[in-house]
Amino acid sequence: MVLSKSRNYPCMFCGNETGRSHGVFMVGSNSGAPRMSARTQSLSLPTALRDASRTVDEMLESILPAPHGLQARVHEAMRYATFAGGKRLRPFLVLSAAKLFGVAPARAARVAAAIEVLHTYSLVHDDLPCMDDDDLRRGRPTTHIAFDEMTAVLAGDALLTIAFEILARPETHSSAEVRSALVLRLAEAAGSNGMIGGQMIDMQAGQNAFGSDEIIHLQRLKTGQLFEFSCEAGAILGQAKQEDRDRLRSYARDMGLVFQITDDLLDVTSTAEKTGKAVGKDKEQGKATLVAIMGIDGARAEAEKLARRASATLAPYGNAAPELCELPLYLLDRES
Ligand code: IPE
Ligand code: IPE
Ligand code: MG
Ligand code: MG
Ligand code: MG
Repeated sequence: MVLSKSRNYPCMFCGNETGRSHGVFMVGSNSGAPRMSARTQSLSLPTALRDASRTVDEMLESILPAPHGLQARVHEAMRYATFAGGKRLRPFLVLSAAKLFGVAPARAARVAAAIEVLHTYSLVHDDLPCMDDDDLRRGRPTTHIAFDEMTAVLAGDALLTIAFEILARPETHSSAEVRSALVLRLAEAAGSNGMIGGQMIDMQAGQNAFGSDEIIHLQRLKTGQLFEFSCEAGAILGQAKQEDRDRLRSYARDMGLVFQITDDLLDVTSTAEKTGKAVGKDKEQGKATLVAIMGIDGARAEAEKLARRASATLAPYGNAAPELCELPLYLLDRES
């Protein structure tokens, strides 16, 4: 992820750039822990993101079928879409949340791979001519351009399907109950009352004059649901208490919105070189975004508010999850 160098990234756990603490530590179990400087934290998050990316890529490499048989073309397209320089943010969330509950890294990496292929499927289909009609994704031609539309539809379908296969296999967790809880949550998050529901509303938004409540609802579905799964999955894998599941989900709910608002801001303020995808499309296609109704400054202020609330949600974990705590604020200045 490319970040602007122009700002500091104040962390709720370590005070803002003026040195004043937000007091979040006081609520957590590690309230007496020494505070890290914002500088230390800012340096560690990019490293953690890179590590997560490496971990999930290794897992994906071993899980995705090598092209073979008469169906090799679909395998090639699955790999093309997957190994194309995505930020791997959802895997990072799975791995970081799982760490909070002492989950074995190999198990968490499988769930990270499952959400990443499901997310990749959503992008392949999102880019199709019948949807957002995009030619560029992750810095290179979209799957239907590099292959053809029929192959892109099938590769997306196969990426969706393999996500559930990964979760259901015994290597993901020895408990069938945990595996089935993961499958259930991913089905809910990805389905017609989750990401697909959001995509449906998004595609029809041009015909509606949505206000901020409807836009927030659509974005919580189309983008937020996969983030909610990613964070909650760590707690499911760790067989954590319901309150932990709820807390991580609530963090992801705000953070997912921050992510989509910044995606919409980048569509207006960034370039295709930086984002790896076409910009200026939302206005052209009449997409309902907070940027469209609140303007750049209004949307950014809303994102900042949500980012602070997301970080504060994790206060009960003290400094056990610094990267998760810092991420929403860091996202505000992302450039890709
Ligand atoms: C793009 O997601 C789709 C949205 C939800 C806005 P990302 O920006 O995480 O895409 P990659 O995985 O890094 O390509
Ligand atoms: C896509 O939202 C969300 C999903 C793929 C579910 P966008 O249409 O805004 O994402 P980009 O800008 O094409 O990445
Ligand atoms: Mg779209
Ligand atoms: Mg799109
Ligand atoms: Mg977008």
